[in-house]
Amino acid sequence: MDKERIVTQMSLKEDEDQSLRPQTLDQYIGQDNIKEMLSVYIQAALRRKEALDHILLYGPPGLGKTTLAQVIAHELGVQIKITSGPAIERSGDLAAVLSSLNPGDVLFIDEIHRLPRFVEEVLYAAMEDYVLDIVIGKDHESRSIRIDLPPFTLIGATTRFGDLSAPLRDRFGVVLRLNYYDIKDLENIVRRTSKVYQHEIAEDAVLSLAKRSRGTPRIANRLFRRVRDFAEIIGDGIITKNITDHALSKLGIDHNGLDHTDYRYLKAIIERFSGGPVGLESIAATISEEITTVEDVYEPYLLQEGYIKRTARGRMATEKAYQSLGIKYYKGLFQDESK
Ligand code: ADE
Repeated sequence: MDKERIVTQMSLKEDEDQSLRPQTLDQYIGQDNIKEMLSVYIQAALRRKEALDHILLYGPPGLGKTTLAQVIAHELGVQIKITSGPAIERSGDLAAVLSSLNPGDVLFIDEIHRLPRFVEEVLYAAMEDYVLDIVIGKDHESRSIRIDLPPFTLIGATTRFGDLSAPLRDRFGVVLRLNYYDIKDLENIVRRTSKVYQHEIAEDAVLSLAKRSRGTPRIANRLFRRVRDFAEIIGDGIITKNITDHALSKLGIDHNGLDHTDYRYLKAIIERFSGGPVGLESIAATISEEITTVEDVYEPYLLQEGYIKRTARGRMATEKAYQSLGIKYYKGLFQDESK
């Protein structure tokens, strides 16, 4: 694999817009706790003229892990190289990336839980001692050489904290969990997007969009763009609440931000498995989705918002799930034993 494919200056996910990404901690909306801590660590590293300690960011997709890594690099005044676990197939790939860093630079590895194990082992010494131990040659002719690296900061991101090996987890000095954004933060993100795009949005439409973004800035921005299309084509350009509600209902997004797949998920539990408990594998098979997608993308928000519960024996639909589907809820003996 050539170097360009492993490392890009910017990893643009298909529907992300670099112009929307904040550059500084001040511009970054929400996650106040995390920002406060990072601000201290960044200032301390700058004052000591040292590389910032390695940072692990975890949490559901779309909450701004890549954005935050770019903000950190910007605040440190260093370059960032962006890659991902699955893109690094061989230890040579990692060696190529690491040896291209300048002192103090940030290396961002998205989906770090998907790094191949033997690559991960090379990373240990790189993180701990800023050295690369590589084996060259084969069998009895092989020998290990050690290459010094500049001090650098690794920022790892994952949606699956539990899938990280303990030795890798232990090598991060700072571990931060990103949470879903509250409505106020999402409203501010929508207002900011409106400014960046120079596209007017009515205040009641801001709230309507924020409420339907599943606590996720990436979704808020994606919905903004779709609603803007409707405003330009069927309205006079201004994003009003009417147009927002019309567009989102066309997109199959309800007033709580649940979409078609959420409904299929909840319906599967309620209609096929009598409300649960049911195992993740069975639900995923029923709705023809990958297990990891269901677990990482769909379930976290449904859990957080109380549509489902996780019990030792599997997932269960809550009363709120029944209500949102308009199905009568019976609190029977087998319905929900923990209540
Ligand atoms: N765009 C996406 N996420 C953001 C955030 N947390 N703050 C500001 N703008 C954003």
